[in-house]
Amino acid sequence: MSNVRLAEGVYWVGAIDWNIRNFHGYSTHRGTTYNAYLIMDEKIALIDTVKAPFFPEMLRRIKEIIDPGDIDYVVSNHVEMDHSGSLPMMIAEATKAQFITMEKFGEAGLKKHFHLDCRLIPVKEGHELSLGKRKLTFIPIPMMHWPDSMITYLPQDQILFSSDAFGQHLASSQRFDDEVDGAVLMQEAAKYYANILMPFGHLMSGALKKLAALTIRTIAPSHGVIWRSDPEKIVSAYTNWSAGETINKALVIYDTMWGSTAQMARAIEEGLTAAGVEVKVFELTGSDRSDVMTEVLDARAIIVGSPTLNNGMFPTVAEFLCYLKGLKPRGKMGAAFGSYGWSGGATKAIYQEMEQTGIEMIEPELAVKWIPEKAELAECIELGQRIGRRIK
Ligand code: FEO
Repeated sequence: MSNVRLAEGVYWVGAIDWNIRNFHGYSTHRGTTYNAYLIMDEKIALIDTVKAPFFPEMLRRIKEIIDPGDIDYVVSNHVEMDHSGSLPMMIAEATKAQFITMEKFGEAGLKKHFHLDCRLIPVKEGHELSLGKRKLTFIPIPMMHWPDSMITYLPQDQILFSSDAFGQHLASSQRFDDEVDGAVLMQEAAKYYANILMPFGHLMSGALKKLAALTIRTIAPSHGVIWRSDPEKIVSAYTNWSAGETINKALVIYDTMWGSTAQMARAIEEGLTAAGVEVKVFELTGSDRSDVMTEVLDARAIIVGSPTLNNGMFPTVAEFLCYLKGLKPRGKMGAAFGSYGWSGGATKAIYQEMEQTGIEMIEPELAVKWIPEKAELAECIELGQRIGRRIK
C-alpha cells in the first residue's frame, strides 16, 4: 500500500467504504470514505479517525508511516461516529496522545459518547497548537454538521481539514479531485450539501466569510476526495448553495394511486416545458428521496402532487414533505395539485406543509375529482405555463 501524500509530511490515512448504501437515511450509491490525516513534525498529529469497523484499515495505513504510539495529538474535528468511532481503539494505540476537541460541545460529546474524560484539550476559535515547524489553528463551524464541528487549518501548507464541509459520499481508488470524473464529483458534492448541510445555509455563509481570510491551497474534507487542483470550485459552489441561489428549473414531484395525479403531473410538465423552463419529474414511489433533494438544491419551483388517501396525503408524499421541511430549502416557489374521489384533503395538506416549510406558494391548489377530463388537463397545462412564466 503506498502512502497518499498531501504535502511534505502530511498523509491521508483514512478508509474506503465501498459498500455503504445508506448513511443515516441518505442513499450513498457510490459508497463513501472516512478521511483521517497524519501530520509529521516534531510532534505528530492525527486529524480525525474513522468509523469503528474501519479502524484496522486506518491503523494499517498509520503503521506504514509511524508507530501509533508516537502520536502526540489526535484532533477530533467532529464527534459524529463516522469520524470518532475509532477513538476508543486509538486511545489504546496512541498511549501518549492528547485529544483535541472543540470546547463545550466537542468536549461534552466525546465524554458522553466514549466516557473519555482524560487527555482532552478543549480548544476554541483562534487556539494555536505548535507541532514544531508547523502549527495547527482551529476554526469552529458550529452545525456543519453538529454543534461541535470545527475546521483545523495548517497555515504552513495552506491545508484546510474541513470536516464534513466540502465533503462527498464518493468511494474511489483515487484521492484527489483531479483524478476523478468532475461531473460525478460535483453531483456528489451537491447531494451532500443538499441532504446534510442545506438547513444551515445562513451559518455556512458566515463560515465561508471566515474562511475567505485564509489562503487555501488544499481542502481536505472528512469524506470523499481532496480538493487540491481547484479548491475555489467547491468554495464557489458552497457560496451559491448557502445563499439559496436557484436556476431556471422546476420540479414536479408527486405520487399516484390510479394514475389521475400522474396525468396531471405530465400536463403540468407540458406547460412548464412550453414556457421554456427546465423540468424534472419524480414519481415518489420508485424515486430516491435524497436524489430528489439534490435536484431541489438549485430548483426555483417545486410543484407537489398527491391523490387523497384517508382525507390526507399519500404516505410517500407526506414523507417527502417531512424530509423537505427539515432541510429548510431557501428561495423556493411552489404549488400543490392532486386528485380525489368522494372527498379531498391532499392538496390542502400539501399547500399548508409547503407554506410552513417557507416556500412561497404562487398558485392556489389545483384539485381534480376522479379522472381528469380534457378541460382539466388543459388547466394543468395552463398552471405549468403560468408557473413557468413566473419563475423565468
Ligand atoms: Fe461525517 Fe457529520 O459526520
